[in-house]
Amino acid sequence: FVAALVPIVVAYLIGALPFGYLVGRARGVNLFHAGSGNIGATNAARVLGRSFGVLVFVLDFLKGVAPVAAAVPLANALDAGAATAFGAPDVVRVGAAALAFLGHLFPVYLGFRGGKGVATGAGTVFVLVPISAALSILTWVVVLFASRFVSLASLAAGTVLVVAHLVSAPAPLGENALPSTLYLVIGTALVFVKHRANAKRLLAGTENAVGEFSMRQT
Ligand code: G3P
Repeated sequence: FVAALVPIVVAYLIGALPFGYLVGRARGVNLFHAGSGNIGATNAARVLGRSFGVLVFVLDFLKGVAPVAAAVPLANALDAGAATAFGAPDVVRVGAAALAFLGHLFPVYLGFRGGKGVATGAGTVFVLVPISAALSILTWVVVLFASRFVSLASLAAGTVLVVAHLVSAPAPLGENALPSTLYLVIGTALVFVKHRANAKRLLAGTENAVGEFSMRQT
């Protein structure tokens, strides 16, 4: 049982690594006090330049991928068969996904003040539900190019992720898929909550578009 909890705790500690904040600090900028005030890849690109935005995205995405990919092998390496301690191995994988995502939103290293969860969440779902994740990432790219608003692209991608999973999973509320379904629905709801300032700006027509550098605090 303890061996099954270790990958979940490790997932939180990895998810909480604030790469955007650290890259900003390395460049002499506190992202909490610049641009939108967010520590994610979008604000890193806005404030530090596009290549740093890409760097932060890749690091934040990988800290979602790695804990989910490693969860079952790690649990079983600590104690043979531990990955099924909570029932199906998916519970350990989804637990790792949820905690990596929550780590990014509420990082212990920064007094629980974190980011909006899009890149890290994308990394987790890329491993958990690859087909729904691919559709969601495609949506993100299309909406970004059509609207030039990263926040709108993120909200659309979250919506498509949940809908694609509900439509494609044979029994989304059945025993096997229920942990992923709960994670996707609650995780996307949290992404929406974290984007409430963006949503207000989108509705008011004052959201920052990609390529514009007028800075509005979140
Ligand atoms: O994932 C964050 C993005 O959707 C919006 O970032 O900095 O424009 O609030 P930002």
